[in-house]
Order: sequence, then C-alpha cells, then structure tokens
Amino acid sequence: MALSTRHLLGIKYITAEDIQLILETADNFKEVINRPIKKVPSLRDTTVANLFFENSTRTRISFELAEKRLSADTINFSASSSSVKKGETLLDTVNNILAMKVDMVVMRHPLPGAPVFLSRHIPAQIINAGDGTHEHPTQALLDCYSLREKFNSFQGLRVAIVGDITHSRVALSNIFALNKLGAKVRVCGPPTLIPKHIESLGVEVSYDLRDTLRWADAVNMLRIQLERQDIRYFPSLREYSLLYGLDLPLLEELDKELVIMHPGPINRGVEITSEVADAPQSIILDQVENGVAVRMAVLYLLAGTA
Ligand code: CP
Repeated sequence: MALSTRHLLGIKYITAEDIQLILETADNFKEVINRPIKKVPSLRDTTVANLFFENSTRTRISFELAEKRLSADTINFSASSSSVKKGETLLDTVNNILAMKVDMVVMRHPLPGAPVFLSRHIPAQIINAGDGTHEHPTQALLDCYSLREKFNSFQGLRVAIVGDITHSRVALSNIFALNKLGAKVRVCGPPTLIPKHIESLGVEVSYDLRDTLRWADAVNMLRIQLERQDIRYFPSLREYSLLYGLDLPLLEELDKELVIMHPGPINRGVEITSEVADAPQSIILDQVENGVAVRMAVLYLLAGTA
C-alpha cells in the first residue's frame, strides 16, 4: 500500500484510505518506540530539514525525534536565528537549504498556503507542520490515532471541538480528518470565534458548552489564539472561561466518562482547569506520545513515494 500523494500539505488533500494507512503504519512504529532499542534504519541516507518560521515545542521536537528514530539525518532551522531576519525570501531560504541535498522538508509557517507554494517550486517532499490558520495535518492524524486507541472505530463517534475555531488550524484539519473517517463533529465556542457557514464543512455548531459536552464522546479543547487576533472577540478571558472553560464541576455533572483532548500548548485556567487537564480521562499526554509514532509513519510512507 502507498499514499496517494508525495506531500502532506493538509488533510483536505488526502483520502480516507491515506489516513487509515498512516494510522495502521503508526501502530508498528508505536511498538518500535516502546522497545528498549527504539531505532529502525528505514530512513538511513535520507536528509530531512525541519524549517520552523513560527514557534513550536511539541511539533518540532516530535518531528525531530521521529526522524532520528527512523535513522534519518536531520537539520533544524529556526527563522528567529536565520538570514530571514536580513530579508531573505522563503524560496531563497529553502533553495539554499536544498542545495545542500535535502530530501524532505518539514515546515511550519505563519502564512496559510506556504507549504502548498513551496511544493510547486521545489523538488523536495513537503510536510506541513502547521501553516497559519489553515491546516496542521499531523496534529489531526495524531488526534485521530489517539481517538482510535480509545474507541476502536470512528463510525458515529461524536467529537466536539471547543474554543477559538476561527483561528485554529487544528480544528480545520480535525474536521476534515474526522469527517473522512465517519465521525460526527460539533464545534462549540462564542459566536465571534466560529466562522460563518462552517456547517458547509459537515459539522454541527453549538454555542452551549454544557449541551455539547452531553452530546460528545470526546472533546478537544482549544486554546484562544491571542497572537492571531487583531480585534477583541470577547470581553475578557475571565468571561470566556466562565462560559467556555472546562472545569471539574462541569465534568462531574456529566453521567459518563468524557475523553478529554488538547493539542497544546494549554492555557491552564482559561480553556481548561488543571484538575481536568490532569484528570484520569484526559489523554493529552497520550496525544503527545502518539505524535512521534504518527510522524514516523508519515515520514516513512512519504519516503516510499519519492
Ligand atoms: N500542538 C502543537 O502544534 O504544539 P506546538 O505549537 O508546541 O508545536
């Protein structure tokens, strides 16, 4: 089996079969990274450049670890300490790196569409590690992998995504992925942070957190992306928290074990309290662990399409 694409630019551009193949391949790599010897030679002689034009903790470390576990050679680039600061264009930066014989590029960039642009201009394979408010495909894949571990099947599974939907690439990639896999998706948040006409993507919309939690099997709590907001979308963080924050009393009201997810970074006390983030039904750290296996699967399968 092979992927239908040689880049991972977004979940929108891949098929349900691609997603299933990535999840099944990740099962093998999860077994590998839990062995005493966590390394396989699959990407020996492959060089991967991790180009981060925007801050990251989880995604950058997770990709680098995934590459090392596959025995790839890696180079790391951070825009804040590079010649981008001296006015170099994205294309010049990447072409200079490719001149050093790089096979694959993992890129995070603040501009939506930057990975698509690169894929049209350079021969290397591109993996989108988050492009502005557009997509974060490997986050959605690791979220789906973590849900699959919990529930086995996506058919009819009810997943709520709560928070700043307008500015969230995690929300968009999850909506595409979960829809393709047969789950039901509901987005919930203040009306100002839910895009108009989002129902056209095949999701339900609710402005009522309590009702949404009663509906859901799993909830993915999102951070308010203050760095992407040019105006005030709600009066105060305190008010947001009162209406859309998940705390222990609200969780205990539900007569079921709701699975709690968060892509990170968490703003504890805003969208989720510490008691909930660290509760037994929280799978937040499982998501992080699964990220390495899922990214190994993506790198391995894309290398097979070179
Ligand atoms: N979830 C996520 O993308 O986290 P980072 O911004 O730390 O990579």
